[in-house]
Amino acid sequence: MPVVGTFDLALVGTGGIAAIHAEAVAGLGGRARVVAAVDVDWDRLLAFGQRFAVPRLYRDVDAMLASEEPDLVHLCTPPGLHAEQAITCLRRNVAVLCEKPPALSLAQLDEISAAAATTGSPFATVFQHRFGSGGLALRRLCAEGAFGRPLTAVCHTLWYRPDDYFAVPWRGRWDIEGGGPTMGHGIHQMDLLLAVLGPWREVVAVAARQARPTATEDLSCAIVTFDSGAVATVVNSLLSPRETSYLRFDFEEATVELTHLYGYGDRDWRVTGAPGREDLLAEVWAAQPSGQGSGHGAQLAHVLDALAAGAPPPVTPDEARPTMELVAAVYASAFTARPVRRGEIGPGSPFYDRMDGVGPPWAVAAVDAPGGGA
Ligand SMILES: NC(=O)c1ccc[n+]([C@@H]2O[C@H](COP(=O)([O-])OP(=O)(O)OC[C@H]3O[C@@H](n4cnc5c(N)ncnc54)[C@H](O)[C@@H]3O)[C@@H](O)[C@H]2O)c1
Repeated sequence: MPVVGTFDLALVGTGGIAAIHAEAVAGLGGRARVVAAVDVDWDRLLAFGQRFAVPRLYRDVDAMLASEEPDLVHLCTPPGLHAEQAITCLRRNVAVLCEKPPALSLAQLDEISAAAATTGSPFATVFQHRFGSGGLALRRLCAEGAFGRPLTAVCHTLWYRPDDYFAVPWRGRWDIEGGGPTMGHGIHQMDLLLAVLGPWREVVAVAARQARPTATEDLSCAIVTFDSGAVATVVNSLLSPRETSYLRFDFEEATVELTHLYGYGDRDWRVTGAPGREDLLAEVWAAQPSGQGSGHGAQLAHVLDALAAGAPPPVTPDEARPTMELVAAVYASAFTARPVRRGEIGPGSPFYDRMDGVGPPWAVAAVDAPGGGA
């Protein structure tokens, strides 16, 4: 693993998000290079290879690993492939940076975790919103108690996806995407919420399929209580024409808000001090490091730093698990109409093996069923 040299990276899956990864690599100024790419779609792979000047192209992960020795493999494939491809790489002693969600279920995530522990090769999940300057500052200040106790929070992922977004064969299906906006979209905001507020304790949730041609939900609403006593309301929607990603933290002495859509910069944060504390808290916020947005490049820099230092790259399986467990608990609460506590969903629970557990309360039409072309 290069401490000062260039990292050799391989990208698996060359669709939409892989281009963001390749651009993030290019933005690192020679610290890393993409030496290989993999896709089952040859035309897409060729176009990607040309666009990003990738020297070697492969049709599957095994063929790539038989010929290459990358320092890190980026998994940019649909979620249903992540666990199998990650474990294949880990068993070849290759480090993995995997797109969210890291797996389809807690059971799969635990298998990945076990493979990483057994082989000693690290696995990290892309949760890029942890790594912008504002997110890092808020996590630090909250841990230090700079704003007092957290009391309540709002975590809204109000996005819009028209019906034709689900024409891609893997979208809207439990067996390939693992869930709707709770698992696939709001997971970013929920991950940052948890990174700031720490361990969650209990969730009460409702999920619905209001309008989209999916087997998964297109809306979920949850109330999450944290070990600290803070209570957050969480909404994940793909039905909201005026889109926004909105996080709000009300501490004893300040409100901290983040309003953006798919990525934030310094200007997307707003800190409002409690009466009499306005200037002081604005000064505390202004004194924090700034200038780094929340994109893939921000996280990749941290991942390479950790690999160079021989440390576990973020976000580790242990760090990602509370977020995945919260997603599972939102479904479990919504589909069984009862509160779910952290730690409750383990082996033996249907929600441990599949995010849809006992099945959603809405009818899944034949067209939406696995293989039905939803
Ligand atoms: N972090 C983020 O902000 C963010 C944003 C969008 C998507 N994502 C995640 O990235 C992943 C991919 O999403 P996308 O929008 O790029 O999907 P996509 O459909 O555009 O691309 C997926 C690619 O994987 C390829 N593929 C399929 N099976 C393969 C296999 N067995 N081996 C190699 N390649 C294979 C497909 O041909 C396709 O080119 C998903 O997990 C998604 O949730 C993350």
